[in-house]
Amino acid sequence: MREIKVTARRGAAGETAADTRVVGLFDGESLDQRPLQALVESGEAKAALKQVAVAHEEAPGAGQRRVLIAGLGKREELDAEKARVAAATVAARAKELGTASLSWAPPDGLAGAVVEGTLLRMYEFDRFKSKQDDDDSSAGIESLELAGDSVSEEEVERARVSADAANKTRDLQNLPSNVATPTFLAERAAEIAAQHDSLEVELLDREAIVAHGMGAFAAVAQGTYAEPRLIVLRYTGGNAGPHLGFVGKAVTFDTGGISIKPSGKMHEMKFDMSGGAAVIESIGAIAQLGLPATITAVVPSTENMPSGRSVKPGDIVTAMNGTTIEVNNTDAEGRLILADALCYAVEQGVERIVDLATLTGAIIIALGSTYAGLFSNDDAWCEQVKGAGDRTGELGWRLPLHPEYLELTKGQYADLTNAFEQRKAPSAYAAEFLRQFVDERPWVHMDIAGTAWGLNRPYVGKGASGFGVRTLIELARAAGT
Ligand code: BES
Ligand code: MN
Ligand code: ZN
Repeated sequence: MREIKVTARRGAAGETAADTRVVGLFDGESLDQRPLQALVESGEAKAALKQVAVAHEEAPGAGQRRVLIAGLGKREELDAEKARVAAATVAARAKELGTASLSWAPPDGLAGAVVEGTLLRMYEFDRFKSKQDDDDSSAGIESLELAGDSVSEEEVERARVSADAANKTRDLQNLPSNVATPTFLAERAAEIAAQHDSLEVELLDREAIVAHGMGAFAAVAQGTYAEPRLIVLRYTGGNAGPHLGFVGKAVTFDTGGISIKPSGKMHEMKFDMSGGAAVIESIGAIAQLGLPATITAVVPSTENMPSGRSVKPGDIVTAMNGTTIEVNNTDAEGRLILADALCYAVEQGVERIVDLATLTGAIIIALGSTYAGLFSNDDAWCEQVKGAGDRTGELGWRLPLHPEYLELTKGQYADLTNAFEQRKAPSAYAAEFLRQFVDERPWVHMDIAGTAWGLNRPYVGKGASGFGVRTLIELARAAGT
């Protein structure tokens, strides 16, 4: 996929050099140019969201120019999410029509949303296709301009970098597990770190993971030939806000291990690194934007494989904080690697933690692909994370923790067991399990198993979504203000 050049331009929308310009149409309002208003009156241009009408006009010195009239619904109901949807609809139509350069006159305060909707919708993952699809002959949109006197350059740039980070996350998600291995993700983190003086990378290999006492992480990794990595990125953006800890599960392929999964949808388990990918790419974007924040990102990465040296049901392992765990189901591997990653983040001195993980199938049953499940030990921090998600359209819904769920995690032979035979509140169980590794620091766990792919928003479709990246960037921005 080629990168779309994004610019902000002060001045009249009609003065654009683009081959296609977009005007928004609100319900019950009219357009000030007569030929365009005629289309509104004839009913050809409709104001409902997701409606796009095509017109043409004389462009001074440039011949004919295309005008897309985008329905934006009722003015008072338009928000960032609806603007993303409208922008995505316009982008898809413009691409079909052969647009190379697109100019939007966005409604006030929504330039960023238009950028996001456009860039996210134009994402493609076709690097393994040896020839182009026949119906995909158009070269695609090369540039996007946001025109108008109220357009904020800073907002446009933040949206561009955020959407770009989401698309890079989608690349990492989509790459198959024979390419996107733990060492591949580690190299990506190192590559990002090399681009910014404000970033430092630390990579722990199998030996270092064991030496650090990360017995839970090491147990999951012991069954695979692929080298595991604990990927650590440190960002120093210089401010007085709290030291944030971003933790992301990056199981590059989850077979379930000895507690092997059915083969049906097993191929989807290449996406089990989605949380870690979002964390890594969010740090790259935060550094690029130079947001004033201090963040330590910790991403445990491994495959979960069955083999002659795999961890076996009933094995007892010891996490970095000394907690012993009976591994009663090797398919509950995410919480094992996260336990040690959370301990490591705590050791680094983080003061607020958010973890992202494709942790439980049960969260898909509970919330589908609409909301990520949020679990937290701290109301104020949870509100901040949820607020950041609401603003980016990456919605979260808080679910409860409870001492009774905590009780379920107690082991028969060890302190904890990683899975409970009775299927009671499996997502809350997993969250209570993780809670025991955060040293009571304010923490939010985002279970993104239902949203990391299959989101099906008009601007991302059903594949990998990059879910969580834009929330983390927004969280870092908000924490620094
Ligand atoms: N990666 C899976 C969770 C998952 C399942 C994500 C389906 C997306 C789609 C996780 O490692 C897992 O296997 N969880 C088990 C836990 C169980 C064994 C306690 C689950 O949810 O079934
Ligand atoms: Mn699993
Ligand atoms: Zn998993």
